[in-house]
Amino acid sequence: MRRLIMAAASIAALVLAGPARAQSPIVIKFSHVVAPNTPKGQAALKFKELAEKYTDGKVKVEVYPNSQLYKDKEELEALQLGAVQMLAPSNSKFGPIGVREFEVFDLPYILPDLKTLRKVTDGPLGAKLLKLLEPKGMTGLAYWDNGFKQMSANRKLVSPADYKGLKIRIQSSKVLEAQFRTLGSIPQVMAFSEVYQALQTGVVDGQENTWSNIYTQKMHEVQKYITNSNHGYIGYVVVVNKKFWDGLPADLRAECDKAMKEATAYGNSQSAQENEDALAEIKKTGKSEIITLTAEQDGAMRRALEPVYKDVASRVGQSLIDEFLKETRGATN
Ligand code: LMR
Repeated sequence: MRRLIMAAASIAALVLAGPARAQSPIVIKFSHVVAPNTPKGQAALKFKELAEKYTDGKVKVEVYPNSQLYKDKEELEALQLGAVQMLAPSNSKFGPIGVREFEVFDLPYILPDLKTLRKVTDGPLGAKLLKLLEPKGMTGLAYWDNGFKQMSANRKLVSPADYKGLKIRIQSSKVLEAQFRTLGSIPQVMAFSEVYQALQTGVVDGQENTWSNIYTQKMHEVQKYITNSNHGYIGYVVVVNKKFWDGLPADLRAECDKAMKEATAYGNSQSAQENEDALAEIKKTGKSEIITLTAEQDGAMRRALEPVYKDVASRVGQSLIDEFLKETRGATN
């Protein structure tokens, strides 16, 4: 696969060799791993529509959904090598390229709601995190929402003890690994595109994801129970290859920036509804039982997962966790 990415990257380098203005149109390949009818899928299409409109077609955005071009880890390599120009990986996926700080978003129950999230992403902390991407050859352009995660398995997941011994698919985040180890599960990192089949064949017993991702990947068809746990968050960082972005003619970059701002506002205003709709669709199929936790059960889960904060402090950085909590809770833990 790496050879293929390298080949695509050298073609991209040849194309970019001349002044960007010389080719017409300039193409932005936007690769992502989810379905078009998800918060990320919709925001990507909105960016395409607006960027093409504002640049009078001088910039063309090709959106490749559903891991059509690359899976999770590959797409980040492809971006760094210039084989694609834009991505929106989840916060949880930056660890393997050496930017572990985004894993702070993975801490269980760290975000009470999306309004609080906005305080982080739209404030100085959000901007500081984006800066960490530059030495990796990427420019961080925006934060896009998906929403809150739910737990699913073929076993009812109600109390912490229910997680014991289950093999659970996770994204490539050490915080998520710690979360499931704390519950006595066996976490397994796996690309998003492989989750459905892994659940179907029993390679893993369960997973955590948002309603929109569960529904569009049909995970509810191969999971008997989904717990409405809202225990964590999935959101994205829109990243662009830095060399490509800096090399764009300034006027076109400004128009693309404007398109990105508007696509972000649009996507983030729709995401909660899209997840609500997906939940309603899942309910309609009757294929999974949706479990609602009582206040006590929810409290027991929260208490069981508290040690994760200490476990991952050295990886994510205690001061970053404190800074994050200051924004979200107004006090440190
Ligand atoms: C996952 O891997 O579960 C998600 O990050 C997929 C996505 O991009 O929403």
